[in-house]
Amino acid sequence: MEIVIQPTAKAATSVAARIIARLLQEKPSAVLGLATGSTPLLLYRELIRMKLDWSKVKTFNLDEYIGLAPTHPQSYRSFMWENLFRHVNITKKNVHIPDGQAKDIPKFCAKYEQQIRATGGIDLQVLGIGTDGHIGFNEPTSSLASRTRIKTLTMQTREDNARFFGGKDQVPHHCITMGIGTIMEARQNLLLAFGANKARAIAEAVEGPITAFNPASVLQLHPTVKVCLDPSSASLLKRADYYRWVYANKPAWQQF
Ligand code: PGA
Repeated sequence: MEIVIQPTAKAATSVAARIIARLLQEKPSAVLGLATGSTPLLLYRELIRMKLDWSKVKTFNLDEYIGLAPTHPQSYRSFMWENLFRHVNITKKNVHIPDGQAKDIPKFCAKYEQQIRATGGIDLQVLGIGTDGHIGFNEPTSSLASRTRIKTLTMQTREDNARFFGGKDQVPHHCITMGIGTIMEARQNLLLAFGANKARAIAEAVEGPITAFNPASVLQLHPTVKVCLDPSSASLLKRADYYRWVYANKPAWQQF
């Protein structure tokens, strides 16, 4: 894991945006895995500002609530079109977001996995982290080998997301999420976390044991993970000084 601690969330986001911009320049037909929530909002704003060429890019979103109409303002489909896709030259047929209204959810999930495989796999997966350590909506105790499937949200996640819905009772109980096994197959993972409420989940994921109790901790087994943090989300890391030194002293060929 490469832990990049920057002075602000904006600066940490700039690092992440540069990594994505470089990928799209090197591989215009890259396959991106994308995330929703508050964390990637700054990233999407920055990517829009960079005026990159999205015409050949394919995207797969991590998750979606079950039961919300795609036009519901809190559906992740609405989120993605509102905050990224309508501002860039992406081709609509290249956008993939789980269908929370699919009639046969297991069949839909198997097809989603197949669609990812058919593109040659995800080149770079953007991840946020839940206060409980979830990635995608893989809640604690999710199988570390799981694939795209239905999950039940924890009370904690529903409380965390209540702010978008005007109360936790409005937050759906179920979702479709890529599995942890799916995420682990991405060639590169890029995890962003900002704010003190993420500090414990980040410390456990980065420096704790690998455990399904903090699903993000499985990323320790992935060969290419970058974790972009602000000082608050990094505040419980025991080796923060080391991570800062490493990033500040990278040889030119290793910089990103
Ligand atoms: P947030 O959510 O970006 O809204 O904090 C992150 C997550 O739940 O993965």
